[in-house]
Amino acid sequence: MDALTLLQQRNSAPKLAEPAPDQQAIDQMLRAATRAPDHANLRPWRFLLIEGDARLRLGELFARALSARNPEATEADCEKARSKALRAPLVIAVAVRYSEHPKVPLIEQQLSAGCAAHALLLAAESLGYAGIWRTGANAFDAGVMRGLGLASNESLVGFLYVGTRDGRAKPLPEHDPKDFATQWPG
Ligand SMILES: Cc1cc2nc3c(=O)[nH]c(=O)nc-3n(C[C@H](O)[C@H](O)[C@H](O)COP(=O)(O)O)c2cc1C
Repeated sequence: MDALTLLQQRNSAPKLAEPAPDQQAIDQMLRAATRAPDHANLRPWRFLLIEGDARLRLGELFARALSARNPEATEADCEKARSKALRAPLVIAVAVRYSEHPKVPLIEQQLSAGCAAHALLLAAESLGYAGIWRTGANAFDAGVMRGLGLASNESLVGFLYVGTRDGRAKPLPEHDPKDFATQWPG
């Protein structure tokens, strides 16, 4: 698939199955991610690859975080939280790693980490895999970030669920690009 087609047709996959990208594919995805635009070459990103049984521990983290956020959460709620980590054979937690820089505020570093996350998804799709970027309460939860080992200058931009598309791709939405772009007359 050529680059333009990939950019125009990338399509998130809410249902994912085995196989996950193999090590070679993961290496290619990471090479794509680390080509994200990056003001002052700060490399403001970190990727945590969570596979196999590590996903069970991620699920426990999600369940503990839910209980801490909501003491009324039932065992069924916690089980649902645990199952989120098993939605794909590979989960990539994408973090922004903030460095103080006189010209590069936090927002620029977050945007850069977001571009890296997008590149991971695009690369996965170009290699025949699929994925979806999710946040939800877990991505903003300090307990989840601590449990993942994030430092105080790091936070999550999201979880990428990656694997092989399960079922048919959903139809691409029909957007008219003209609805989002106008000539600025000056
Ligand atoms: C920062 C960010 C966070 C997102 N969080 C969620 C989420 O928690 N749950 C969800 O279903 N979709 C979430 N999405 C949207 C999906 O990743 C996806 O873009 C959406 O389902 C539309 O599908 P498409 O990418 O194929 O157009 C998020 C997207 C972004 C960019």
